[in-house]
Amino acid sequence: MQQHYSTKMKPLGGYLELQNEKGLDFYPDMLRLNTARNAFEYILKIRKYRSIFLPYFTCQVLMEPIRKLGISYQFYTINEHLDPVLDFELEPGACFLYTNYFGIKQDTVIGLSKKFKALIIDNSQAFFSEPIAGLDTFYSCRKFFGVPDGAYLYTECPTRLKLERDVSFDRFAHLIKSIDLGIEQGYANFQENEKKLSNNPIRRMSLLTERLLTGVDYKECRYRRNANFMYLHDFLLDYNDYVFDASFVNGPMSYPLLTTSTELRQKLLEKRIYVATYWPNVLEWTTPKMYENYLTRHLLALPIDHRYNHSDMKRMLNALKQLL
Ligand SMILES: Cc1ncc(COP(=O)(O)O)c(C=O)c1O
Repeated sequence: MQQHYSTKMKPLGGYLELQNEKGLDFYPDMLRLNTARNAFEYILKIRKYRSIFLPYFTCQVLMEPIRKLGISYQFYTINEHLDPVLDFELEPGACFLYTNYFGIKQDTVIGLSKKFKALIIDNSQAFFSEPIAGLDTFYSCRKFFGVPDGAYLYTECPTRLKLERDVSFDRFAHLIKSIDLGIEQGYANFQENEKKLSNNPIRRMSLLTERLLTGVDYKECRYRRNANFMYLHDFLLDYNDYVFDASFVNGPMSYPLLTTSTELRQKLLEKRIYVATYWPNVLEWTTPKMYENYLTRHLLALPIDHRYNHSDMKRMLNALKQLL
């Protein structure tokens, strides 16, 4: 059909569209991209890195840009504090990727920033951790909020890539189905969406995701995460094999509980408490004797997000009390 109008002209009238609160962006000055893995690719491209050290303990999707760009890579190990074991040197052209695990490793990020220049911080699990001046840092929006995609990138490198804008209206099934029918009904759609996000080109964040993100009450989200995290920590501290300093929590992603039990995850699932495994690929990348392999099997990332309050946390603690 021939169009007789200019798409530049704002349309007036017609049907109404989905409505949401229009507020502020949390990171208005950062680059807005479609996924965190692509924000990572953006950095690798503009910095022209030729090789990378990345942790065994991370998500396999980070391999997408590394393979695509043909960058050589080496895995490094982490210790019981989830800090990197630095038994290597960075050659010129090489960079180092560190994940701000669960959003509670900002101290390590600060420490690393003093040691390395060619450092990339993966804040996919640490939305509320502000970037450190000079450090390339990326964020994944869908790990923290009800959006299907979206990423922020902080970089002081002046080079910019020219990009098209992504479109994400067909990635919403899990987000809306779960409201109507419950979270379990949307799970298959969630997995489909994970597949749809694979091997996409780097694009600017979709208008839809951008719009939804301006409607988030960030203050409340951060507050609830902190309150829920500390509620769990007060009790779980004595049971947790992962020892960490909780004095500066800043809207973390989840509560990391490390125990010797391998049954807790299944037992919680039977009580409708869903705990994701971070990250199944680590079991393939490591041998059973490695610490990362143990972490993947034994560490539970307990949900503490803005959907929950203290009575939900109490239910989770009651379930755990019977099992610990
Ligand atoms: C630590 C970590 N970094 C990056 C990513 C990639 O995020 P995105 O799906 O936005 O590309 C993930 C998971 O998907 C992750 O767990």
